[in-house]
Amino acid sequence: MNSIDLSSQLKAIDALLVQYQWLWRPQPFKHVRPEWCVRLPELTTRLLALSDDELALLTAQESELMALLAEYLPELAAFEALCQLPARHLTTLTPLSPHLNWAVPGRKWTQIEAFAQAVGPVTSPVLEWCGGKGHLGRLLAMQWQQPALTLEYDPVLCRDGTLLAQRARVAQQFHVVDVLLPAVPQYLIDRHTVALHACGALHRTLVRQAVAARVPAFDIAPCCYHLGSDAAYQPFFLTESLALVSDDLRLAVTETVTSSAREVSKRDREMAWKLGFDRLRRDISGEDHYRSIRPIDKQWLTFDFAGFCQALAQREQLAIAGEIEWPHYEQFGWQRQREVMRLSLVRHAVRRPLELWLVLDMANYIIRQGYRVELGTFCPRQVTPRNLLLSARLAG
Ligand SMILES: C[S@@+](CC[C@H](N)C(=O)[O-])C[C@H]1O[C@@H](n2cnc3c(N)ncnc32)[C@H](O)[C@@H]1O
Repeated sequence: MNSIDLSSQLKAIDALLVQYQWLWRPQPFKHVRPEWCVRLPELTTRLLALSDDELALLTAQESELMALLAEYLPELAAFEALCQLPARHLTTLTPLSPHLNWAVPGRKWTQIEAFAQAVGPVTSPVLEWCGGKGHLGRLLAMQWQQPALTLEYDPVLCRDGTLLAQRARVAQQFHVVDVLLPAVPQYLIDRHTVALHACGALHRTLVRQAVAARVPAFDIAPCCYHLGSDAAYQPFFLTESLALVSDDLRLAVTETVTSSAREVSKRDREMAWKLGFDRLRRDISGEDHYRSIRPIDKQWLTFDFAGFCQALAQREQLAIAGEIEWPHYEQFGWQRQREVMRLSLVRHAVRRPLELWLVLDMANYIIRQGYRVELGTFCPRQVTPRNLLLSARLAG
């Protein structure tokens, strides 16, 4: 894909996201019936009537969801077409030491291998950004016979990574460093820099520093765009259009495609109980509007519903007096949770467009700084939903 394509793709996605803000911005968790429900009553009825199995299917299969929504809003089909990205070419790696993936969980190793294959040949020393135990750096170092340096601020991970590198006889060093501090750019010079799932501000800092240091090449698979972002997101390139806030960035990464059944059931309970508590708070305080709830202590989810509400009420300084009909509020919460999950499907339809907007915004900035950029998916979503790889090579 060339730079003109990336720039026009960004502008087209931007225009659609702006046009449909009325649909995707309102959060059913906060608004019992978002305003679009009045505009689209048939879609609302259809979504609310979905069985649990249908909901699960539409949550897991984006194409099924888009097909359903397109029955009511045919214009949304444009999103799907605009978000098509090529699968990146995968270079075959030579079979390497059996010690290389020692102690790496299976799915993690699949991601790492796919990322390394998509990066292709590495001809400079490797710098691994926020590398954890340095599995990716270790693989690239061995594959391409280049020394690797892994930056990571957790000393325990650095120590474990050093042992793994020694075991595999790989030339890899670790530096315990906070990559957000100003002293870091010195590490980048003349290195091929890679970052697999460096969250939010960590990958954005890398982009700015890599182009400033004129590194020969860098490859990034971004994730958790909302972490380290100001409440109002600062774009790289497209500054006069869609104004994103931290909640929007979080929406881009809310899939549960790789979550276990236990994680999903915990998430459901948390949502239902918060919604039950919200009703209770409204009844006690007489204020009939949503009030945001700060992240809760996950330990409270091991209590029963009454215990959960009492712990939360204490933190929120809500006085609970007299007899409370706990089963009524808990049941109310579960009913709302059912509805929220169904009405939120319209927001799911823009998760990939939002993610692509963020990545294309970075890509266009990097191109402006004199790099060639290639963008595509490096593995299927089931391996990781954060499967976009942005590769930049210094042009000329
Ligand atoms: C999501 S993990 C990714 C690790 C590794 N790249 C992988 O894919 O397995 C993000 C890593 O960034 C590290 N990290 C977070 N903030 C950091 C900072 N400010 N400086 C350096 N490393 C940081 C974390 O300790 C963690 O190991």
